[in-house]
Amino acid sequence: MAKTIRIGFLGFGTVGTGAFRMLQDNRDAIVKKIGLSFEVAKIGIKDTSKERGVDPSLFTTDLDSIVNDPTIDVVIEVIGGVDPAARLVEAALKHGKHVVTANKELIAKHGSRLVHLAKSKGLDLHYEAAVGGGIPLIQPLKHQLAGNDLVRMMGILNGTTNYILTMMEEEEADYSDALREAQEKGYAEADPTNDVEGIDTGYKISILASIAGGKQVAVNEVYREGISKVSATDIAYAASWGYRIKLLGIAEMIGEAVRVRVHPTMIPLTHPLASVNGVYNALWIHGDFVGDVMFSGRGAGSDPTGSAVIGDFLDVGRNIFAGGSGSAIPYDEGMKTAPMDDLETTYYLRIQVEDKPRTLGEISMVFGRHEISIAEMQMRTLPSEKGEIVCLTHKAKESAVQAALAEVQWLPCVSKVATTIRVETA
Ligand code: NDP
Ligand code: HSE
Repeated sequence: MAKTIRIGFLGFGTVGTGAFRMLQDNRDAIVKKIGLSFEVAKIGIKDTSKERGVDPSLFTTDLDSIVNDPTIDVVIEVIGGVDPAARLVEAALKHGKHVVTANKELIAKHGSRLVHLAKSKGLDLHYEAAVGGGIPLIQPLKHQLAGNDLVRMMGILNGTTNYILTMMEEEEADYSDALREAQEKGYAEADPTNDVEGIDTGYKISILASIAGGKQVAVNEVYREGISKVSATDIAYAASWGYRIKLLGIAEMIGEAVRVRVHPTMIPLTHPLASVNGVYNALWIHGDFVGDVMFSGRGAGSDPTGSAVIGDFLDVGRNIFAGGSGSAIPYDEGMKTAPMDDLETTYYLRIQVEDKPRTLGEISMVFGRHEISIAEMQMRTLPSEKGEIVCLTHKAKESAVQAALAEVQWLPCVSKVATTIRVETA
């Protein structure tokens, strides 16, 4: 009799239920594509009091009983975080189970070790859902684009923050209302600080940079700023100058090193990433042979992410059918990273000032001393009778801009440096 693949779920929240529903709804097509039947054997959860609408006998709070069960072939980890996910995934691999995970924090921090473990055991470890929700990004980077020198990648990689920024611009929504909506729709992480402070995007861009560069980027070497300081005022100024503000994850190869950064970024409205709105994510890549490529789709939510998880499960299932394992592509730790200080780009600056003679001159003097030249500048009087200076610089060095702003903020005519946003055009 042909084998039936037995699946154990670790976690059954937003992503777990999406993946489970797809296995149920598209069962016949999936069986046909794999060549083998499958069944969900056990589901590990924390809270036994929740009504799940699924056969209650499948559920257990003893997650070790899933990773230790010799009859389970594939473990789908959709708990999130490192503890207990890392221990459970490691145990599953040690017990000979293929693993599919949606956990970016786990892969960003422990990917190298876990992929090596999977490879040494002849097992699959797939994590397509960890980056970009439903968009296929990991497989194209590992395979179809792997022959390229991937010079630069820029991505909108977090659905929650893109949803918030879009709602703030299109609906003039309040930041906290938009965040609450994103949480209600199942886009946000268990702790949404991870979304809004760019931590989630940092995990994702470091995973992409690790695959592209062939070595794991240490997550603490990713420069990171979130969107909590982006205001409706900055969004409006950006629009008036033909730009939109997006939270981008950016990785650029600089010789043998990679600079990986996450921050709110002004991009021209004509850039393909500028029209990626709401929960949609996109990754724009420049490769030396392929040129520019962009992938886009829904970056969070139950169904799109469930789709990515089940795509990985199909890969595993086909390998089980063929009697082997697929494409665990191991990478070592220790990717060299380039310092943020050496970045050269254009900056948008908004500075609150005393609306007095010589204010402009005093600020311009500081910029001049640091070799920062201004491309556009506006000064306006606010209702409070204070003033506001908004400017775009020509290309300048990050270290020079930070040094200049550190001086500017102490000028008697300056109340505060309200916003600094980097601008990227390609
Ligand atoms: P949820 O919080 O919705 O679900 C987490 C599940 O894990 C729940 O079923 C919870 O149990 C279970 N769980 C949590 N801790 C434990 C524990 N200690 N022991 C047993 N079970 C536990 O998270 P998501 O589904 O949103 O996210 C899961 C993973 O997918 C994360 O890594 C996330 O980053 C990633 N991801 C999420 C996306 C999204 O759009 N939400 C998109 C892409 C990736 P219980 O149900 O009992 O509370
Ligand atoms: N919280 C994440 C987001 C989930 O909003 O993009 C998808 O990884």
